[in-house]
Amino acid sequence: MSDRRRLLPLLGQAVHGSRSAMTCLYRCGNACDHPVPNESDNPYFTDVVNSGMSRRGVVRASAVGALVLGVGGAAGGALLGAAPAAATPPGPDLAALTPSRPKSGNGALTFKPIPPNRLDTFVVPNGYDHSVVIRWGDPVVPGAPAFDVNDQTAAKQSVQFGYNNDFVAILPLHQHNKHALLVVNHEYTNENLMFPGFTTFDAMTLEQIRVAIAAHGMTVIELARVEQTGEWEVATKGKRPYNRRLTALETPFAFTGPAAGSDLLKTAADPKGRTAIGTLNNCAGGVTPWGTVLSGEENFNQYFVGGDGVADEVKPKLARYGISTTARYPGDSRKWERVDERFDLTRHPNEANRFGWIVEVDPYDLKGGQRKHTALGRFKHEGANVIVAKNGHVVAYMGDDERFDYLYKFVSDKKFIDDNSTVARKHNLTLLESGTLYVAKLDSTSADEIDGSGKLPSDGAFNGTGTWIKLVRGNTSYVPGMTAAEVLTFTRLAGDAVGATKMDRPEDVEPSLLTGKIYVALTNNTNRGVGSNPKADEANPRNANRHGHIVEMVEDRGDNTSETFTWSIPIVCGDPADPSTYFAGYDKSKVSPISCPDNVAFDGAGNLWISTDGNALGSNDGLFATAIEGPERGHLKQFLTVPLGAETCGPFITTDNQSVFVAVQHPGEISGASLEEPASNWPDGDYAKPGVVVTWRLDGGPIGS
Ligand code: FEO
Ligand code: CA
Ligand code: CA
Repeated sequence: MSDRRRLLPLLGQAVHGSRSAMTCLYRCGNACDHPVPNESDNPYFTDVVNSGMSRRGVVRASAVGALVLGVGGAAGGALLGAAPAAATPPGPDLAALTPSRPKSGNGALTFKPIPPNRLDTFVVPNGYDHSVVIRWGDPVVPGAPAFDVNDQTAAKQSVQFGYNNDFVAILPLHQHNKHALLVVNHEYTNENLMFPGFTTFDAMTLEQIRVAIAAHGMTVIELARVEQTGEWEVATKGKRPYNRRLTALETPFAFTGPAAGSDLLKTAADPKGRTAIGTLNNCAGGVTPWGTVLSGEENFNQYFVGGDGVADEVKPKLARYGISTTARYPGDSRKWERVDERFDLTRHPNEANRFGWIVEVDPYDLKGGQRKHTALGRFKHEGANVIVAKNGHVVAYMGDDERFDYLYKFVSDKKFIDDNSTVARKHNLTLLESGTLYVAKLDSTSADEIDGSGKLPSDGAFNGTGTWIKLVRGNTSYVPGMTAAEVLTFTRLAGDAVGATKMDRPEDVEPSLLTGKIYVALTNNTNRGVGSNPKADEANPRNANRHGHIVEMVEDRGDNTSETFTWSIPIVCGDPADPSTYFAGYDKSKVSPISCPDNVAFDGAGNLWISTDGNALGSNDGLFATAIEGPERGHLKQFLTVPLGAETCGPFITTDNQSVFVAVQHPGEISGASLEEPASNWPDGDYAKPGVVVTWRLDGGPIGS
């Protein structure tokens, strides 16, 4: 593998570690150039930790049964579609949301891995095919105008597919497995790749800024299956009533939970603190067992200016989220305040508090009904993934994607009702509105042996026990000196106060519905152990961590509502020839190189799929898969690569195992590129356009097997 890689041309100057400088500017507002926002000493407040260890509030097992959505459950041959017709949309058939075991093969991953490459194309294994489902500018709302890059307006963009697709979900729809809903996040924009003649943010017209705002947000759009294959395409016939865009120009989101209506969320435009306009920087997400989509508001800080003009006592609360409190107009600002004054914090200091939440979108709700759940806390949410615990409560796992930030989980007060009725769904839609929010503390078994090199300790594992420290339940705060609304709105500060474990950029945190075990993608942290930053620990065992790792967590007693767990690291990423890498003890000569794990997913056989963002080994980003149980655990293989400059987002494997969807985000995002001189011609041969791709097996067999 390494010989092949050496032959590949290295395009694009890596400026910030592995990333193009363009990625750093546009995607996260040059986060790496700013001080690490977490300057906490993380002192331990014994009383707080003790209360976190308490068993109070843990409800014992009920009769709901193990892993309601476990593989092999009620799928019963349902593939993607058993939901009722569009006229009366009470929601999806829960069975159709249940992953089904592959109908052929034994679930082993038999595809031949593809080699690392720097090709400006989408590469899949032999025996597979792929197609572009939808790309930036394609019509979403029926009747939307065709895309014209030279004549774009905010009104057009508001009904067309947005930019930089990230999270992807496929939900069942009517017509028995032939139609489905695609729900997509649009995380951010690359203005220099979107607008002809772009020079600087300052030089943009007001209409161009509005276009950029409209290109953020989310899309819901109906798909149709192509014949009996795993290929899907945008449905072009019929009313398609669910098709819509959600944008920060106009889409209202209702706040729920304890912080809704609090003073911290009130603004001049919303004096009750109950409704925010829009959702921003939507990164990853998850599909709930009741058929809605969760989406994480991530690097929202970069859209705000005027942090220098807020009251002094507010400044630390902005700074902890990466908002400048010294510059009137931070150098990487997007200038949105020129078209909407709420993005100027000097004038509207609470507006930033209205972003950084988990939003829930019900794609079947023709009236909208989108919400921001304050009970799940406010941070740079990568996403949220839900499992129904043995006792029926639902548990959402979440990561805060910043160097040295934390892992969280939410446990609902109410229990999931496993029923397809309208009454049950109405109940389930309230599950994320009240509950308990925890932050993770990971302890070590081999602390004395961790030297930052990645050398495996003498007990043979990076592993330990852990505690979910209780931060807040309802209106009761467990953090000294903070009210419940403050804990939920300034959750990072709450995590600091209780001594949470500083992690190497927690991205996706997702439970396997087959085993209940949780997998955490830790992308990288080149600041680990550098200067005055925290040194390697057993859960983040490499200093200057360029390639990231995967943590596996197992809740005590197999109960996802437990307040204690064990953890280990099955995969330490990088070139397998690098002695600091680890692949669950598997023969490294048979493993694909992987760098910067970002999003994770599972197929019906329970295999772990990992997409990457910012491959620091020189190859394009891609999608990988490995078994996580049995003798093949750690046998990681590369399944696909995306075009030049792109990152691989999604991924989503349909419950029938016939299709894998990925989002190709920021193709051609290489320093110096422009619309006129693109670094990528994907997907149409002219200029780069982000798009969603479906891959399927030519022989109709299950993906991966
Ligand atoms: Fe948007 Fe954490 O990646
Ligand atoms: Ca150990
Ligand atoms: Ca991500």
